[in-house]
Amino acid sequence: SIESQIQSLLAQMSTQEKIGQLALRDWGTFGASDMKAIKQAVREGRVGGFLNVNFSSVDKHAFAELQRLAVEESPLGIPLLFGQDVIHGYETIFPIPLGQAASWNPELIKNGARIAAQEASADGIRWTFAPMIDISRDPRWGRIAETLGEDPLLTSVLGVAMVEGFQTDNLGDPTSLAACGKHFAGYGAAEGGRDYNSAYIPERLLRDIYLPPFKAGIDAGMQSIMSTYSTLNDVPGTGSPFLFKQILRDEWGFDGFVVSDWNAVMEMVPHGFARDGKHAATLAANAGIDMEMHTDTYEQFLPQLMDEGKFSEAQLDTAVANILRVKLRLDLWSHPYPRAQSKAEREQIIRNGQFLNAAKEAAKETFVLLKNDKQLLPLKKGQTVAVIGPLAEAPHEQLGTWIYNGDKQHSRTLLPALRDMVGDGGEILYAAGLDYSRDTSTRGFKAAIKAAKKADVVLFVGGEEAILSGEGHSRGDIRLPGAQAELVAELAKTGKPLAMVLLAGRPLQLDETLEQADAVMMAWHPGTMAGPALADVLYGESSPSGRLPLTWPVGAGQIPIYYNHLATGRPATEDNYTRIEKIGREVFQHQPGNSSNLLDYGHKPLFPFGYGLTYSEFEYRDLELSGPTLDANGQLTISATITNTGKTTATETAQLYVRDLVGSVSRPVRELKGFERITLNPGESQRVQFTLTPEQLAFHNADMQPVVEPGEFRVWIAPDAESGLESAFSLR
Ligand code: IFM
Repeated sequence: SIESQIQSLLAQMSTQEKIGQLALRDWGTFGASDMKAIKQAVREGRVGGFLNVNFSSVDKHAFAELQRLAVEESPLGIPLLFGQDVIHGYETIFPIPLGQAASWNPELIKNGARIAAQEASADGIRWTFAPMIDISRDPRWGRIAETLGEDPLLTSVLGVAMVEGFQTDNLGDPTSLAACGKHFAGYGAAEGGRDYNSAYIPERLLRDIYLPPFKAGIDAGMQSIMSTYSTLNDVPGTGSPFLFKQILRDEWGFDGFVVSDWNAVMEMVPHGFARDGKHAATLAANAGIDMEMHTDTYEQFLPQLMDEGKFSEAQLDTAVANILRVKLRLDLWSHPYPRAQSKAEREQIIRNGQFLNAAKEAAKETFVLLKNDKQLLPLKKGQTVAVIGPLAEAPHEQLGTWIYNGDKQHSRTLLPALRDMVGDGGEILYAAGLDYSRDTSTRGFKAAIKAAKKADVVLFVGGEEAILSGEGHSRGDIRLPGAQAELVAELAKTGKPLAMVLLAGRPLQLDETLEQADAVMMAWHPGTMAGPALADVLYGESSPSGRLPLTWPVGAGQIPIYYNHLATGRPATEDNYTRIEKIGREVFQHQPGNSSNLLDYGHKPLFPFGYGLTYSEFEYRDLELSGPTLDANGQLTISATITNTGKTTATETAQLYVRDLVGSVSRPVRELKGFERITLNPGESQRVQFTLTPEQLAFHNADMQPVVEPGEFRVWIAPDAESGLESAFSLR
């Protein structure tokens, strides 16, 4: 068995070799480029794995040789584990995770991860630092682009789908990657949205909102967990026995391994938590961080700490066993080398037609139609369209953040895709107007306005360049960067119908632009196949079906704003709040007991969680509950009929929400408990049915105990978090 193999290896290992297994190295650890030192360390069994090797400027193709040294020349021949940030595709780049989350489609996400795993394993990678399942309620935070949104259930379901896609149900399959849930825990709650910043999360909230996606991933077999760089309630995550010993191991029984984030062990020094490297190693190792990424404090100090009785041989064996367990499950001994053994074999796998097509189909499901006055979209063939804006022809920007192996030369952009789509039946004019998203020069406006005047429809494609989101790339101001808003205003003055496609890693403050545009579609960063995917949806070959995986604020000053908040004691009503008339945004149906007011922004978001339009319309009716009560051991079914009342086949995502009216602690105004995507032809109806059990209504009480409290509940089947059909039941 794997456990006996671990014991037999441990029995043969020297202390140095054991500590070697805990080392996750990059070239930087070895003075950036000393290949000789790197090879020697591998030969001596002083390295357990490498990260992001093929992005290195030192040697992009070092995998096979390093692995050969480990397998053939190191004392016990334990294979290296190669990890990489394969976040939303390897070479075939899929939409950014936040975009994928907008599909609300676990199958799509699973398939994307499967394709990424097939490509990455071709190059010898068997471990990915994904899924990122941090909950974030702050669009200023640059890494919100990597999250699956703000909701614990949606993030759990989609995170599990990603794990299943990477790992398959057989980790020993040479195409599988071990997944890594990150960042444990609370990284997404960085104060002020400033990356790496302190997070303060009360334990109850941590357990109800931030931890469930990690628990779900572990229950689905996720093999590793990465610690957060940041402090959580004043303790750096990387030095927290509460997180890694109490919760992860004791409460959840996790048997994979924990890796620190890059440099996070040493960052406990500037955090003012560790005195120096030796102290940092003591704290991390005793907190339960099995593997150290980038720095080498374990190699330097663990032998000494063991002599001093500050870290035991038994603790070391446990950490090594956790890592060997995953290496054995991956069956690295049978498949240590890159799966593709030749260039030709690699070419058959990487970016093959089937993968590119899957990336296109995936992207199509991520676009969220936010506004579509006078049914401007879909565009009609035969129209002259003026394509304007900095992101219509931006092969690198459309790929988004974290794309180690993504290359803009393979990007399929929008302009040629639109021209292919219309063929001889229409004209596509192009004038970017701005060179890039932050461009402040109005030099190109004249040509853009000239093109707009010649066209039947203006299609503005703007938003944010890839570099404006991602790690260390937070923004305080989330408006359209550069002179884009001015350009849109000028285009609107032409009086031509104006459709806007936004590419961005976060929701943006839209201000007047939202009123100036007749149609707005959020496309996130859609990846390699952005162009053909957008062309299909813009021309109605498919109807948009994306739904917001997070609440879209009116402006940065409204953050944090999220749908599953508590009610205030003096909730705003339609009578007692003022909103900015110049924004003139649509007022969504108000739920009683909602949030509080800002004089300038009002009390509602610009668009609620779960929101998204399509080219058709859906009607919800006949909400029915199987009974008025849900018994302790029983279940309740909740159903409604949904009809496509429009003229186009389209997909609706029906969402089940509940509200627990009175609890031993205040309960959120709504919580998502289920969702279902259904595709209906015009005139077609379908009944959606959800089952609710008492366990789904559990929460942590003030004593941190999971409880199900009897009482009265509201329930909705809804198209978003602010509307829907409403009923009630009692939990007995
Ligand atoms: O996986 C990442 C992590 O999310 C942020 N720091 C670096 C790691 C490895 O590249």
